[in-house]
Amino acid sequence: TAQPDTAEDVVTVEFDNGVAWVTLNRPDKRNAMNPALNARMHGVLDDLEVDDRCQVLVLTGAGESFSAGMDLKEYFRETEAKGHMATRRAQRDSYGWWRRLRWFEKPSIAMVNGWCFGGAFSPLFACDLAVAADEAQFGLSEINWGIIPGGNVTKVVADLMSQREAMYYILTGDTFDGRKAAEMKLVNFSVPRAELRAKVRAIADNLLEKNPMTLKAAKDAFKRVVEMPFDAAEDYLVVRQESLNFLDKSEGRKQGIKQFIDDKTYRPGLGAYKR
Ligand code: ACO
Repeated sequence: TAQPDTAEDVVTVEFDNGVAWVTLNRPDKRNAMNPALNARMHGVLDDLEVDDRCQVLVLTGAGESFSAGMDLKEYFRETEAKGHMATRRAQRDSYGWWRRLRWFEKPSIAMVNGWCFGGAFSPLFACDLAVAADEAQFGLSEINWGIIPGGNVTKVVADLMSQREAMYYILTGDTFDGRKAAEMKLVNFSVPRAELRAKVRAIADNLLEKNPMTLKAAKDAFKRVVEMPFDAAEDYLVVRQESLNFLDKSEGRKQGIKQFIDDKTYRPGLGAYKR
């Protein structure tokens, strides 16, 4: 495949029944994140946030790679050569789209189809859920070329992995496969690559049945309370629910109770109410 040559092509978006499949598309460079890709992702997220064809966002990579991390040539060497402010700008663009993705208005799933190195752990973490191919290879390769995992990757693995495992992979740079990633709970599931898309589709279909306002409130609530003291979290959840009651003009929770208690058309323990 030819190297995409316009900024538009470095990320592709495909819509399919409520899902936006967002593909990092520099397969010749193993989808390493260069400044063009990082800049493009801001536009992609801006557009998808208000596009009804996107109810669930899936992030994946073209070809054999999810992402080989930051582009060592364009993101580091060439940017550093332009000076300190160029480095700060490059960081703002990359950290910025990962933050946007973390708080994206719709649920997101990382579909780790192949290589996932270094900086790629940041978009991996930014997605609410993650599914890997058994064959995918992960690694904190920073140590192999003499830097520490930045771009908040050290924090990401501190939050997602056990301390022993995080420290082991930070210090050794050893790779691990999708199965191991699932065993460590770095991803939700690992399946054979041939089944990866179908697995992600099934999870997305489950999410599509839920009230979208509630999904956004639920993901934000979780991500916020993780960092809160107990009593503050308790209060925050009350307030967040009351804000949802105001924002959800469909009054979903009343529908849910009615369909169970009065209509007896579904069981909340076993699935979502009909919207
Ligand atoms: N930055 C810049 N270019 C890259 C990167 C990267 N992170 N990863 C791959 N490429 C380029 C290679 O330079 C090569 O370019 P060329 O065809 O112009 O020579 C092309 O992509 C293919 O790379 P190969 O190494 O030939 O591909 P292979 O399939 O044999 O290996 C692998 C894939 C294992 C992913 C390897 O490319 C690699 O180790 N990449 C670097 C991974 C890494 O350590 N990333 C940085 C993490 S640290 C951080 O993100 C802060």
